[in-house]
Amino acid sequence: MRGGGCRAGHHPPELIMKLTLHVWRQRNAGDRGRFVTYPASDISSDMSFLEMLDVVNEALIARGEDPIAFDHDCREGICGMCGMMIDGQAHGPRRATTACQLHMRTFRDGDEITIEPWRADAFPVVKDLVVDRSAFDRIVAAGGFITARTGSAPDGNAIPVPKAAADLAMDAAACIGCGACVAACPNASAMLFTAAKVSHLGLLPQGQPERRARVRGMVAQMDAEGFGTCTNHFECEAACPKSISVRFIARMNRDYLVATLADRGAPASGDSGTG
Ligand code: SF4
Ligand code: FES
Repeated sequence: MRGGGCRAGHHPPELIMKLTLHVWRQRNAGDRGRFVTYPASDISSDMSFLEMLDVVNEALIARGEDPIAFDHDCREGICGMCGMMIDGQAHGPRRATTACQLHMRTFRDGDEITIEPWRADAFPVVKDLVVDRSAFDRIVAAGGFITARTGSAPDGNAIPVPKAAADLAMDAAACIGCGACVAACPNASAMLFTAAKVSHLGLLPQGQPERRARVRGMVAQMDAEGFGTCTNHFECEAACPKSISVRFIARMNRDYLVATLADRGAPASGDSGTG
């Protein structure tokens, strides 16, 4: 059966599937790693991809073998932990869907599925499908914050935010930091992630005091971490489970130019508002 998700009010009948998995196994960062083939039996088409891996791991544990290591936490598309390449596509074949929300009905009974970790120098493999994405944390630490005083919650309308800016900031804030954009990019560029984080705060009035320092700091850290540059392939946007638009990259480039010119003493027109 070939599934494509549910239409409203229609749930496809459950199918019990048998699959063959080709999984990247790598003991640690120093291990060369290799693909290992595993059968996956008694897989319900209603399971998520991670639940399917759970079933495979239970069988491995029962045989006294090392289970496949993979990252996960929320299993509802929020935390960004569960990234992996599934048949060469970041998070698998469904658009705007994290691996944890990918259902097995997306595949056919008898399919062979290849599962790999993100491949990027800045995301070294920790074990099997788990990579170290702390480079993203360091990019955020380089500017992804505001310095407004904390304290009791401010009145909701104390700082008016234009509707268009609020909507765009929310779009950027949807980034869950999964790293699929990096994994999908032929240059392993982190521009989409960094642009989302820069824009999320740079669009809001509360984010203006640090706007120039933020974009300079986060771009410098992105470069220092060894991510590649953007050459407009747009694979990042296609792979992003939260549909973050590449327009945020253009926005970040403009912010970066304005910040650089301002540092050199040129008039900093263009960074006075929240647009
Ligand atoms: S921009 Fe999209 S793909 Fe990249 S880290 Fe954010 S949510 Fe993941
Ligand atoms: S496990 Fe949290 S987004 Fe997939």
